[in-house]
Amino acid sequence: MNVTNYRKLIAKQLNQDFKSAVEIVEISISKPAANELLIKNKFAGVNGGFDTLLCRGDVPYVNLIPPFDLGVEAIGKVVAIGENVKDFQIGDAVITTARGGGYREYQVVDANLVVKVREATPEVLTLIPTGVSALVALEQVGEMKSNEVVLVTAAAGGTGHIAVQLAKLAGNHVIGTCSSEAKAKLLRELGCDRIINYRTENLNQVLKQEYPNGINLIFDCVGKTVFDTCVENLAVRGRLVVVGFISEYANNVEQITQARIYHQLFWKAASVKGFLMPHYKEHIAEARDRLLNLFYTDKLKVAVDPTQFQGIESIPDAVEYLFSGQNCGKVVTRF
Ligand SMILES: NC(=O)c1ccc[n+]([C@@H]2O[C@H](COP(=O)([O-])OP(=O)(O)OC[C@H]3O[C@@H](n4cnc5c(N)ncnc54)[C@H](OP(=O)(O)O)[C@@H]3O)[C@@H](O)[C@H]2O)c1
Repeated sequence: MNVTNYRKLIAKQLNQDFKSAVEIVEISISKPAANELLIKNKFAGVNGGFDTLLCRGDVPYVNLIPPFDLGVEAIGKVVAIGENVKDFQIGDAVITTARGGGYREYQVVDANLVVKVREATPEVLTLIPTGVSALVALEQVGEMKSNEVVLVTAAAGGTGHIAVQLAKLAGNHVIGTCSSEAKAKLLRELGCDRIINYRTENLNQVLKQEYPNGINLIFDCVGKTVFDTCVENLAVRGRLVVVGFISEYANNVEQITQARIYHQLFWKAASVKGFLMPHYKEHIAEARDRLLNLFYTDKLKVAVDPTQFQGIESIPDAVEYLFSGQNCGKVVTRF
């Protein structure tokens, strides 16, 4: 290997603004230790919410002090192998999902944390871990059943479009929200039963008029007033999964004054549960295998947003793009 140095994106300081918090640094490529692999990253998944919250110091379960590495999932190729590693070969396509491994051109990582896949494509990267999150959130937290009404918000996004398909595959009637005709087209192609473009229709009105018995399972990625509308429209024994609250990531948290949420939940025996992938690790391997099988047997489609983000320097723009709400499918950066 002729290359000696590589670049990565780090948080140099905590800052409300992602662009002001980060910088690119160049460092030398280290040799893998006995149980490690050296991987050349080809694509990294962009998780703008998590990145921004980390750079603000607002992720309570990690307490990082700058400087720290950024990015989570990446897919690439093995370029060097430690002497004790048996299960990998140079050239293998691999995925890593450790925090700090995403926004960098190369990484040295413990071989036990690496998953071998058929090819290093952005589609496979979207399934692992974004698709895994959708599956585990629906099944383990949302207790997804069949013949129910399921609502997915931000349904044409990276996480949402997988959730829509999984809820359909389980035999449910699926409603998806989005903000444009291009996204509605994607959702139609994925078999979504009722698409609500919230710029042209009022979400609350549609749900009240067309679903008077309420929604059985809600997969909410958006938060704020969308979350309020979701709670209001839960069915008896309905389940709302808080997958994220992207409407708040770009701004400071909104202070609200209203009746406590149990007033709404109690009379319907409904529930609201948070979902955070790191707390459901035991389900990852099975979910990953099932998703790859669905993908390779053409039962699940993967949408990758076509906007090209090339190189470490494009990551702040990719994060900003995600917050602009324009993306259709998963946002990735290429190296
Ligand atoms: N809990 C976990 O472990 C976990 C794991 C993965 C992802 N997530 C969460 O899942 C959600 C989706 O993440 P993603 O990476 O897949 O992103 P994404 O859905 O691909 O992109 C974000 C989408 O959110 C929608 N959106 C709605 N209101 C918005 C607003 N006010 N500002 C910006 N966007 C808005 C936009 O689409 P429309 O406006 O067209 O709907 C936008 O395209 C996020 O909340 C993320 O934090 C959570």
